[in-house]
Amino acid sequence: MSAGGVHTRVLVFIGPVELESLGRVLIDCVEGGASVSFMWPMTAAKADAFWRGVAASHARGERIVVVAELDGAIIGTVQVILQQPENQPHRADVAKMLVHRQARRRGVGAVLLAAAEDAARAAGKTLLVLDTVTDSDGYRLYARQGWQRVGEIPDYALWPDGRPCPTTVFYKAIGRID
Ligand SMILES: CC(C)(COP(=O)(O)OP(=O)(O)OC[C@H]1O[C@@H](n2cnc3c(N)ncnc32)[C@H](O)[C@@H]1OP(=O)(O)O)[C@@H](O)C(=O)NCCC(=O)NCCS
Repeated sequence: MSAGGVHTRVLVFIGPVELESLGRVLIDCVEGGASVSFMWPMTAAKADAFWRGVAASHARGERIVVVAELDGAIIGTVQVILQQPENQPHRADVAKMLVHRQARRRGVGAVLLAAAEDAARAAGKTLLVLDTVTDSDGYRLYARQGWQRVGEIPDYALWPDGRPCPTTVFYKAIGRID
């Protein structure tokens, strides 16, 4: 999948090079004010610890990590969390959709989301769930790509500067349970 020279791929291996690049994208997003689990000040140590945890989970087969690359450099990423309770084997969570500020508003988020949906479907998932800050850039992206709005939870999370923000839960059916 591509958008203006940007290509997406599912990571098979997450090593030091990927950890460094993914950390750079995460730090940029948090420094830019995104509410994605982290508070200011964002640090390389926090980003590294986060991505090492993701890499370990990825190595256990619990999640898919999709990246978007431009000229060989990672400029965006999103994850599909495959591991779910045994009564929800058909479901996955979509999480940590991140695009570097320098690469935004040219369709990278859209191709990443489509790639995540394709990867989830290929993994046998038929229902996807996510949450995002109400009326944010992500909120518009999910609505535009056919995700169904479930509802809003006020004061669910914090912006990186400490102000509370409302969260909207979305789902998307990408297949049918057999
Ligand atoms: C949410 C996020 C991933 C979107 O990434 P993106 O690559 O900018 O997404 P897209 O380019 O597909 O869409 C963004 C906007 O650009 C527009 N756009 C897409 N291609 C375009 C183009 N070629 N020319 C002009 N505009 C374009 C889209 O219509 C959309 O407009 P809107 O925001 O007014 O609705 C990004 O803003 C981000 O990383 N935010 C911080 C982290 C975050 O909050 N993530 C969500 C957590 S759930």
